[in-house]
Amino acid sequence: MMKKSIKDISVSGKRVIVRCDFNVPLNEEGEITDDIRITSALPTIKYLIEQNAAVILMSHLGRPKGKADPKFSLRPVADRLSSLLDQEIIFKSADQVVNDEIKEISANLQPKQIMLLENVRFRKEETENDPKFSKELADLADIFVNDAFGTAHRSHSSTTGIAEFIPAVSGFLIEKEIEFLGNAIENPERPLLAIMGGAKVGDKIPVIENLLDKVDSLIIGGGMSYTFLKAQGYEVGLSIVDEEKIEMAKSLMDKAIKKGVTLLLPVDILAAKEFSNDAEASVFDIKDFPKDWMGLDIGDKTVELFKNEIMKARTIIWNGPVGVFEMPKFSKGTRSIANALAESDAVTIIGGGDSAAAVRQFGLSEKMTHISTGGGASLEYLEGKTLPGVAVLQDR
Ligand code: 3PG
Repeated sequence: MMKKSIKDISVSGKRVIVRCDFNVPLNEEGEITDDIRITSALPTIKYLIEQNAAVILMSHLGRPKGKADPKFSLRPVADRLSSLLDQEIIFKSADQVVNDEIKEISANLQPKQIMLLENVRFRKEETENDPKFSKELADLADIFVNDAFGTAHRSHSSTTGIAEFIPAVSGFLIEKEIEFLGNAIENPERPLLAIMGGAKVGDKIPVIENLLDKVDSLIIGGGMSYTFLKAQGYEVGLSIVDEEKIEMAKSLMDKAIKKGVTLLLPVDILAAKEFSNDAEASVFDIKDFPKDWMGLDIGDKTVELFKNEIMKARTIIWNGPVGVFEMPKFSKGTRSIANALAESDAVTIIGGGDSAAAVRQFGLSEKMTHISTGGGASLEYLEGKTLPGVAVLQDR
């Protein structure tokens, strides 16, 4: 990456404010159900502590709509950080995020001490990228470190605005994410295969558009595949289809042919009459799909077809499950893809969001080369967009 990182500057004895993405899932009791975004931030935090910096951490959690809301407090994150680092994390529940008490604590923060600010989205100025709030944050520290890859596609006070006021560099997580995702699309070992799934075809179309210029082959599975299958003239019954995107799907398939990209779609479908794990399920060839059934997973022939392609690839980017893996009855397709990636010795890059959750659910995280902590951010990166939270950092 051509951006400066914390290793390129001296942080010793400085107050360093670090934007992390601690937007973690919480259950109804307010307990963290997946802390990968917290553990992924630890290398940067530990390095800063080793270098004798005083560290101020900040993040958003959920979408509290610009008002303090205890449901979205970062307190559970402070507790988890404290046990992971085995050190006190100073945390005050400040509705205004920055108030006189916070200013005083940060002014007196000693090297190796860590303070976590309250959810930056408790202030409406955060998502408005209001310079007044950006400056309040900047005034707490000497240096800004952005390590929130998952939020790097947002231009907010704590991700970009603050960089107007104090020197801004990247942390190790952003550096690592850009290295893996960037290499996979710009400089991959070939053949390069992308596997796209998930339900929201609208979100994935610009990604497919960009990837068709880069990949050797493309697999489309999951909810979005029915729009493509319908565009090819198949009956898909009650399966999810985005009618408005059918023409776009056709033009993407034409582009694949022009570019010489192998494009694979499901050839058989595990379907049910209703969207339920208890529903009766049956496999249909795509040529004989019945009108009153909905596709919820890929069938065995498709698994074999996709696996063969996976085995040929040297670099694989996977974004989006190929079935409703949250329901055990419809998880087999996604599990088979995850297993095939785990067994392959290709470079395997998992875009964040649902496919990352699936890989973790199947206990295969260790078998992948890189699992991104960004959902929306990794998609925008794969679309070829510049991430504003990276663009504001100092060039090397
Ligand atoms: C995410 O979970 O994708 C990021 O934390 C960004 O959250 P947002 O979509 O609410 O901005």
